[in-house]
Amino acid sequence: MKEEATIINLPKFPDRRGNLSVVEENENVPFKVARAYWIYDVPGGEKRGGHAYKRNRELIVALSGSFEVTVDSGRGDRKTFRLSRSYYGLYVPAGTWRELSDFSTNAVALVIASEPYDDDDYIRSIKQFKEYVRKQDGHRS
Ligand code: TYD
Repeated sequence: MKEEATIINLPKFPDRRGNLSVVEENENVPFKVARAYWIYDVPGGEKRGGHAYKRNRELIVALSGSFEVTVDSGRGDRKTFRLSRSYYGLYVPAGTWRELSDFSTNAVALVIASEPYDDDDYIRSIKQFKEYVRKQDGHRS
């Protein structure tokens, strides 16, 4: 069974001094954490991402503001999530096309990743992605 992109409810510790949420590897992210990066100061109307990874899995959290993440497994199940709360993470399995768009002013996207940065892990064209998925499915059946 192929994994699907899903929203993970992260722990939230409400406090009158300000709330706190946490991500711990193999606890509320289903992988060992290798890397974290963040996307910020995105001008209105710009998009980020627009690629897939062969091995990397990730959890995307809106630390501030809001934005959309469109995910597609290459099997006709394109779906868009709007992230706006710091206690939700979008888990994106490997082999998923994903694109971040419609950033609000001051939006900050935190991405927690299962792999170190590796340019060879990227699939940057949708055509290549569809071929990749077809081959993967062929090997599985
Ligand atoms: P990239 O993942 O290609 O972002 P986008 O798909 O939104 O354009 O990353 C942009 C640049 O940042 C790329 O040239 C490589 C660099 N980068 C790193 O060096 N390390 C990282 O962990 C990431 C995510 C990017």
